[in-house]
Amino acid sequence: MSNGKILAIDDERNIRRLIRNEFSFEGFEVITAASGEDGLRTFEREGFDAVLLDIKLPKMGGIQTLRSIKEAAPDAEVIIITGYGDVQSAVEAMKMGARDYITKPFKLDELLALVRQIIRERRAVGKDRTETGAALPADPGGAIRCPSPAMESVYRLMDRIAPTDHTVLIQGETGVGKDVLALQIHAASRRNDGPFVTLDCGLLTHNLAESELYGHRKGAFSGAAEAKTGLVEKSDKGTLFLDEIGNIDLELQKKFLRFLETQRFRRIGETREIAVDARIILATNMNLERAVKQGTMRMDLFYRMDVMQIQVPPLRDRIQDIEILARHFLNAAAPRYGAKTLSKEAMAQLTTYPWPGNIRELKSVINKAMIFADGDAIEPDDLPSHVAVRRNPSPRGPKTLEEMEKAHILSVLEETGGNQTRASEALGINRKTLYKKLHKYKLFS
Ligand SMILES: Nc1ncnc2c1ncn2[C@@H]1O[C@H](COP(=O)(O)OP(=O)(O)OP(=O)(O)O)[C@@H](O)[C@H]1O
Ligand SMILES: [Mg+2]
Repeated sequence: MSNGKILAIDDERNIRRLIRNEFSFEGFEVITAASGEDGLRTFEREGFDAVLLDIKLPKMGGIQTLRSIKEAAPDAEVIIITGYGDVQSAVEAMKMGARDYITKPFKLDELLALVRQIIRERRAVGKDRTETGAALPADPGGAIRCPSPAMESVYRLMDRIAPTDHTVLIQGETGVGKDVLALQIHAASRRNDGPFVTLDCGLLTHNLAESELYGHRKGAFSGAAEAKTGLVEKSDKGTLFLDEIGNIDLELQKKFLRFLETQRFRRIGETREIAVDARIILATNMNLERAVKQGTMRMDLFYRMDVMQIQVPPLRDRIQDIEILARHFLNAAAPRYGAKTLSKEAMAQLTTYPWPGNIRELKSVINKAMIFADGDAIEPDDLPSHVAVRRNPSPRGPKTLEEMEKAHILSVLEETGGNQTRASEALGINRKTLYKKLHKYKLFS
């Protein structure tokens, strides 16, 4: 297995050659492109663990290329290469979701370390390119054990469940760490030297999902030019992790139920049944009980999946974890930006913010603050304004949930310049709900 697959987009031939030589030498698979157009096409065709992107490209510029890449794959990891003194466009790129930037002339070691870190993180959550079918080392590297009572009971349950072969359903809001937990379960199971195979069901249309899962015979359908081994088969003796299970359609659910019951399946276009020995972990951020009520989820499958449930609590219900996670992300970013601490005030802000995006959001807030903080300590001013809600010194101690909600809505509105559509998107609620809340809190006038 290669150390990872990277795409380098740069119009300078020497830079491309340099990156190709160095990264190949270090065991990476490298593909280069000389223009944004070319790079984008390659990116869409193959998928990469990380993209190194020169910001100054002729015709389709670096920023535009970044935008298109992010549109094609929002979780793409893009490292921007900028000219000396062009920090402005680097900052712009970071705002658009670039992972990081590096200034020319750069040290190859630094770039290598950065790419390695990104790939380690993607592996830790099963998101690296090798996810489709490759055996991953069972190493939830980078994840820490959270000390809150709520997570303590999650870990206790996990320790009991992991060594068994029970199907596990992990539920929880987006960004709470479901992927991380799935890998931890695998690592703590007797299958930990077997493969850990991930399928993100949310990404697939029905036909694709079926052939991804079960594989197919050559010529089984138009487009099936080659025979394909499905993920179910690849997970034999290991763990099959089906992410975003709430998104698979009823038809496929039925087939999947059969597989759960019999541990046997058929490749598309074949009659022979194949037996596999795989442990199934499912995850969803949907409320499955509601989906069952609405008829989008079959009852029997739901109860099947119900066998062992782990509910991962949202970060706002485990504020004891915020500080240790924040410090963890701070340390992880330190080699790159220099060691920084969090001021008491900044920490206080972090513990009162409700974290709708949970741990993922905390991590991104810390990373951004590391970049923007000038001093040795991160101050409230270095935090995004919606996190650093201006709080009136309140003599009666902690705010009520309503007060926090009101302040949060206000600051998001401030940030979107009063645009309610964008504010409701940012808040993760629909416009009507936002309207009602504005009314309730008398935020018109
Ligand atoms: N215990 C932990 N220690 C360190 N980092 C963590 C921990 N738990 C989660 N993270 C980080 O938080 C981010 C979100 O985690 P993860 O992808 O597992 O969440 P999720 O619940 O699967 O989200 P989604 O519902 O969007 O798929 C990742 O970057 C992950 O590395
Ligand atoms: Mg996930």
